Amino acid sequence: MNETFERWQSRRAFILAVTGAAVGLGNIWRFPYMTGENGGSAFLLLYIVFVLLLGLPMMMAEIMIGRAGRRSPMQALAFLSEEAGVTPHWRWLGLFGAITTFFILSFYSVVSGWSIEYLIGSVNGDFVAQSAPQIGASFDAFLLDPLRMTFNHTLFMLLTMSVVAVGIKSGLEKLNNVMMPLLYLILLVLGGYAVTTDGFGEAIRWLFTPDLSAINLSVVLNAMGHAFFTLAVGACALMAYGAYMPSDQSLPKAVLAVALLDIAVALLSGIAIFSVVFSHGLDPTEGPGLMFVTLPVAFSELPGGQIWLGAFFMLLLVATWTSSINLAEPMVAMLVGRGWRRGRAAALIGSLVWLVGLLSVLSFSSLKDVHWLGDMNFFALVTTVPPDIFLPIGGLLIAVFAAWQMPKEAAASALGVSPAGFAVWQVVVRYISIPLTAVVLLSSVI
Ligand code: TRP
Repeated sequence: MNETFERWQSRRAFILAVTGAAVGLGNIWRFPYMTGENGGSAFLLLYIVFVLLLGLPMMMAEIMIGRAGRRSPMQALAFLSEEAGVTPHWRWLGLFGAITTFFILSFYSVVSGWSIEYLIGSVNGDFVAQSAPQIGASFDAFLLDPLRMTFNHTLFMLLTMSVVAVGIKSGLEKLNNVMMPLLYLILLVLGGYAVTTDGFGEAIRWLFTPDLSAINLSVVLNAMGHAFFTLAVGACALMAYGAYMPSDQSLPKAVLAVALLDIAVALLSGIAIFSVVFSHGLDPTEGPGLMFVTLPVAFSELPGGQIWLGAFFMLLLVATWTSSINLAEPMVAMLVGRGWRRGRAAALIGSLVWLVGLLSVLSFSSLKDVHWLGDMNFFALVTTVPPDIFLPIGGLLIAVFAAWQMPKEAAASALGVSPAGFAVWQVVVRYISIPLTAVVLLSSVI
């Protein structure tokens, strides 16, 4: 496939698209429950360190490959490795990324479906005057209802694929422009509410008093995986967006802005959620249901709570929508690069992902006790292995390609920095990001 001449319509549009990919369930749903399951402050600290040392430089590497290649991930890698005179096998990295996003999207769509359910529930007033235990019980009942879950999962998949089918850029930019700031506003309101709860002090202590004794290998691995997941790095999905990045935009600046915002959103939702957890005596290790139990409780205590709750789930849905579009893009781009029509590619990929998603739906009822690796059911498996193992492997390989294989001039110009800035980036990636990721991955395997 030839070079693409399409570009994001403005610098802002590129940043918004990458923010749209980054901010999603990872920040608002996964970050709080992972923090809860992994000992609180220890996880938070590691997550921030990994975002800065691994996530950021590798995000630059990934987008830079896309910008230098100006093609879909597999073709960009093939083209650049030919230019660099290195093995053409690098292109399989694009396929590996597509496989990773395939499995991530399969559960992402199911959980986004939960937001649809809660959006409808809050419009219906289902959570009015409900106690925390009642809200918890109705969430458990919902999980036991595969038909309702399948309906929502189907709806979300259709939403995602209908945008991907027409090409990512038409509607997405405008939607992002309006919706994302509103989401941050609601999170700020939630944060303000959290300050007034009894649990606020404890939540802050629990999140921010570093407890190094809680750190073990699995906490380290989970925090590393989450850093990749939340930044959308390691699956060549941002590479696909980099292909449309204007040539004169500074990549490090854009990426830094996105990463800081991403951390801020996660912190805000963590503070809000754990304030509720501690003020209502809920369990921080609740797991994937954490957000769906705590937030309705929080909002029910705010004046006009149902309206806020409905608005929150609607905006969350937009945030997850822009993330899922990003997850689908590399797979669809791969087929389009092989001559498929976009609409057909989206229909095929969407159907396959949907089918695999059904296994996640059933993991809460009939397949609950069907275990795959150790004691994980399918949902536990897909929410763990692709984010925590596949993404770091992908990110590692992407970084090796960018920092060791690409010719220096090509890399520096795609990164859009001065020679000195390039040297700093290269040293960090070569001698910190790559070895650190490798050490964590290898020690977990052993
Ligand atoms: N970062 C998104 C979130 O936090 C999820 C996501 C979007 C993603 N695109 C990705 C994860 C690509 C891995 C790879 O919700």
